[in-house]
Amino acid sequence: MRPSTRSARSSATSKTTASSGDLSQMKVTTQSLQASLPCMMQPSHSIVSVAMPTGSREPVTKTLSGLLQLGLGPVTGGQMAGQAATPATTASERFRDLVGAAPEGLWRAPGRVNLIGEHTDYNFGLALPFAIDRATVVAARRRQDNLVRAFSCTLESQAIASLDDIAGKAPSYFEPWARFPFGVIWAMARAGAAVPGLDIVIASDLPIGGGLSSSAALSIAVAIAVNDIAAAGLSKAEIARAGQQAESEVAGLPCGLMDQLAVLEGQAGAAVLIDFLSLQTEQVPLGLGPLVVINTRVEHANAAGAYADRRNACEEAARELGVPSLRQATLEQVEDKLAGELRKRARHVVTEDGRVVEAAACLRNGQPIGDLLVASHASLRNDYEVSCAELDLAVDVALGSGADGARLTGAGFGGCAISVGATAEDLVTAMSGAFARAGFPQPEVFAVAPTDGAGRLA
Ligand code: GLA
Repeated sequence: MRPSTRSARSSATSKTTASSGDLSQMKVTTQSLQASLPCMMQPSHSIVSVAMPTGSREPVTKTLSGLLQLGLGPVTGGQMAGQAATPATTASERFRDLVGAAPEGLWRAPGRVNLIGEHTDYNFGLALPFAIDRATVVAARRRQDNLVRAFSCTLESQAIASLDDIAGKAPSYFEPWARFPFGVIWAMARAGAAVPGLDIVIASDLPIGGGLSSSAALSIAVAIAVNDIAAAGLSKAEIARAGQQAESEVAGLPCGLMDQLAVLEGQAGAAVLIDFLSLQTEQVPLGLGPLVVINTRVEHANAAGAYADRRNACEEAARELGVPSLRQATLEQVEDKLAGELRKRARHVVTEDGRVVEAAACLRNGQPIGDLLVASHASLRNDYEVSCAELDLAVDVALGSGADGARLTGAGFGGCAISVGATAEDLVTAMSGAFARAGFPQPEVFAVAPTDGAGRLA
């Protein structure tokens, strides 16, 4: 049932979560200042790490002079500090510095916010995400040899591998960020793409690991660049699958397809209704008023393990109910035939699918969806047990500051909340005060707009 009053919704979100055991394992981290700065503002002499694919499973860290000895060219800042840089200008300028030539093109893949429909994708259910106006941009160019060299401006880190090494086996021995570009190339080669040697420079204004799909944006930006340069002709669905395989088989998160499809199928002014059973998508206009992200900056120490536990529980619940997936289960079956943790997990999934259908209908009719967002958050907190104190606080403060609705977005276990109906100005002071009083690190609060999905910029 949808709670009908703001006070009912507020108190619904302030209950103590039943997942205190999980929460005790949470690690609060502050995003490093360096990681959040555009690369042109970072020191040009920084340590650059090079992931070596053979001989050692540990990435080898080299200084700049070591890189010069390897013949990889200087790594320098591109613009004067203080000048605003977009990921596109940063990627393009750093590419020229690093490679000594212009890139063949620039490819952009946005992050995403999931409006509603959480942990439904791997249950063949429904979700309603939208692509946001923060993105990862890749500058790329074919090389004459068979090396792939990837450089991250955000991390000032470079990784190099031969195509034989990448294609040989899932490249999960690379340092974490490099598993996405190399992983997606590995998956595309497996899907039949004839990938050439490449220089790739990556710049982004997405918070890393903040629940806005920075990893899908990275994989998909690289994938569409490779698809164009290699003239591989992979469809959007094949590219999405390659991104998912990089994430699950190389980076180790057994994810569904939501992030990749949202990043690929987004459209300005709309959310994408995705049916994960048929893989059909429909654009639903978003006329909701301000959309604001609250990044709690919390990272769960074992988010991938906790995510895999939830997925396993859902699959076990479906087996017990004798259905192919929870998409085919009814709430009555879940309540009658399941017990304990399996019942809670399955109840979240089945009710969440219902909320997505209702939210899409409300959007089509110009009706508010705030109560559905609040009910989704309560279900994720109480039944799916993927919220945390910082996310619950962000939702409560948003509702107390004029938002029509708010909920955690993405996998949970930290990361971001989305608020609908209040401006960033409305929220920033209240969030700052409430987080300080609770003894939590300051959250990052910013407005987002639904934008077009991934594509070539130049
Ligand atoms: C992560 C995964 C997605 C999805 C969400 C939860 O973002 O990558 O596939 O399962 O969590 O809805």
